[in-house]
Amino acid sequence: MSAPLLQIDALDIGYDGTVVVRGFGLDVAAGEFVSLLGPSGCGKTTVLRAIAGFLPAMTGRITLDGRDITRLPPEARDVGIVFQNYALFPTMTAFENIAFGLRVAGRPRQEIRQRVEAIAATSGILDQLDKKPAHLSGGQQQRVAIARALIMGSRVLLFDEPLSNLDARVRLTMRAEIRRLQRELGFTALFVTHDQEEALSMSDRIVVLNGGDTEQISTPRALYSRPATPFVASFIGNSNEVPPALAAELTTGPDGAGTGRCFVRHEDLLIGTTGLPAEVVHVEFLGAFSRVDCVARGVTLSAVLTGTDLPVPGQQVCLRLRDGNAHHFPGAPA
Ligand SMILES: Nc1ncnc2c1ncn2[C@@H]1O[C@H](COP(=O)(O)OP(=O)(O)OP(=O)(O)O)[C@@H](O)[C@H]1O
Ligand SMILES: [Mg+2]
Repeated sequence: MSAPLLQIDALDIGYDGTVVVRGFGLDVAAGEFVSLLGPSGCGKTTVLRAIAGFLPAMTGRITLDGRDITRLPPEARDVGIVFQNYALFPTMTAFENIAFGLRVAGRPRQEIRQRVEAIAATSGILDQLDKKPAHLSGGQQQRVAIARALIMGSRVLLFDEPLSNLDARVRLTMRAEIRRLQRELGFTALFVTHDQEEALSMSDRIVVLNGGDTEQISTPRALYSRPATPFVASFIGNSNEVPPALAAELTTGPDGAGTGRCFVRHEDLLIGTTGLPAEVVHVEFLGAFSRVDCVARGVTLSAVLTGTDLPVPGQQVCLRLRDGNAHHFPGAPA
């Protein structure tokens, strides 16, 4: 395997001497798309700032293409960044925004025009170049911000929640758009989001951060099917935490239920006529599927059902586990 393009080793990062991200380590291969996922305040933006060079690392090392960039200023790092609020210059047209870095670098007019038009065509905003940001839609502003970062030809692009200001439909389009641009232009992406669906759908790998610590680094599927920690098991997807005694009744498999913590995803809890007796207490119709809350031995557990043939509150049912799909961890419940 070739050496990773971006290597981050044991980074401690913080503000005013207080560490907020501890021991962050990550290797990113050329052309890879890696997401940083975690709740608000877990340190996602802090990690991006440190990689971009806006925040000094307290300890640790960042290497890009074999070059130690840990102490370099932002402009010397060959890393582009797309901010959450786009940070476009409001008095400049889309063209001038995209051209900004090349102008500062003193490139000739003719070259600037050519490169701006090429990147604008790839980004689908060629006919918007004369407009100022206030006259562009959210999705178009987003494209301008991405084009402005891309035009400098950085090999690594950092995205800080770039889709969070867009409405749901435009978000879906832009997810696919960013992946397409990435494939066409061949950059390597580190993408921050707190939207797990976004991370699962877009990423080659996901880093889950929690309170400044790295919980797991995996492919989306592995993260979902083999969560490494109780935090990941409860944060990714919709999970029930099942108390040990109940877990022992529900999980008949040989996998040591009865002690420690146990998590079962809503979709892995099956409602039927055999298994753990429970009473339906609430049914929430959500369209493609419905959430059914049941109480078994005083514990509320949620399951999902598709279709419109749903149980009703008060109905007695039985709960089973789909194919031994429970996630067990040693230790006492939080
Ligand atoms: N400029 C700052 N000075 C001091 N503390 C800060 C500063 N910026 C962030 N922090 C703290 O560092 C921690 C991580 O913040 P960060 O902005 O990296 O979180 P985040 O994961 O990006 O959250 P969000 O999803 O809300 O954007 C938080 O506890 C935050 O309060
Ligand atoms: Mg942030």
